[in-house]
Amino acid sequence: MTEIKASTGPKYARIYSVGSATPSRVIDNEFLLQYIDSSDEWITQRTGIKERRWVAEGENIETLAMEAAGKAIERAGIDRAEIGAVILSTISHYHQTPALAPKLAHQLGIPDAAAYDISAACAGFCYGLAQAESIVRAGQAKYVLVIAGEVISEITNLEDRGTAFLFGDGAGAVIVGPSETNGIGPVVWGSDGGQENVIWQTADWHTAVETGVFPKLGMDGRAVFKWATSFIARATKKCLDGAGLTPDQLDVFIPHQANDRITDTLLRYLKLPETVVVARTIRQLGNNSAATVPMAMDALLSSGEATSGQTALIIGFGAGLVYAGQVITLP
Ligand SMILES: CC(C)(COP(=O)(O)OP(=O)(O)OC[C@H]1O[C@@H](n2cnc3c(N)ncnc32)[C@H](O)[C@@H]1OP(=O)(O)O)[C@@H](O)C(=O)NCCC(=O)NCCS
Repeated sequence: MTEIKASTGPKYARIYSVGSATPSRVIDNEFLLQYIDSSDEWITQRTGIKERRWVAEGENIETLAMEAAGKAIERAGIDRAEIGAVILSTISHYHQTPALAPKLAHQLGIPDAAAYDISAACAGFCYGLAQAESIVRAGQAKYVLVIAGEVISEITNLEDRGTAFLFGDGAGAVIVGPSETNGIGPVVWGSDGGQENVIWQTADWHTAVETGVFPKLGMDGRAVFKWATSFIARATKKCLDGAGLTPDQLDVFIPHQANDRITDTLLRYLKLPETVVVARTIRQLGNNSAATVPMAMDALLSSGEATSGQTALIIGFGAGLVYAGQVITLP
């Protein structure tokens, strides 16, 4: 048998930098009351959300992704020609083909990188990070740019009082590269397609063309809530176990921002010490699907609530159902 050379890479990978972008239009709860029978009090109490950001004229998934990625590249201080792969996680780019990642790479001045989109809903960033870590350690790219970008406002059904208030738009990005010490723990990930109808798109593209109705998001909120507070709670513990850590060794917790009450339940389950900094960006940004985790990471680092070098647990979960989480060293 002819021997085929295998690629080899560095022993470890880490996140070098993070960047994010939020659109300019601030949507408070009051604004939504023209569409749904609700109240600021109910939305705040049941979810924690006070406001979210939606795209305005001239803003879209491309502008948001470019801004977040540009910041991440600049902050990493690397030569962009050495970025060998660009992964975009999104569920709100409306072209089945071509993917948006090659265009973003081109516009960012990254020559000849492998570039592709992935679809893993609110777990998308953590899926992309898992791929990036493996790509770097396999020596298949020196640096990987992982972007998560969403414009969920355009697929939000404003007349659905179960979902209209939940989502916001935005993007987040990180650079992953080689490291002397380990900065990304083993991913804990999986899926349950048996629950594909828990979060859904109201029509496929064929039906949309036939009916002339643009597909929107639909959700069984109670089912998601139950899954997140039971199954996902156990997954957070597995992330810590996989990284060989106990809750008291954690500095920061960045769970997907789906509902403040879900975050509270995860905290109680993990018995995290009060000193652990917990992401609560849902209050100002809502749920940004795939972009939530990197946006929250950037927000905590920018505000000084978290600092570079700290140990953080991140986890994303959503439509599929899918989930993924890791322990990381903050950039
Ligand atoms: C959507 C969500 C906030 C709804 O909260 P909930 O406590 O489960 O609410 P329920 O659907 O059980 O409804 C409770 C009551 O509030 C009412 N209600 C529902 N939506 C309402 C609204 N927008 N405003 C006011 N009342 C509302 C219901 O009619 C119900 O009233 P009843 O008790 O008189 O029948 C919550 O289920 C959730 O956050 N789920 C997870 C969603 C998520 O994370 N999705 C993204 C996946 S990544």
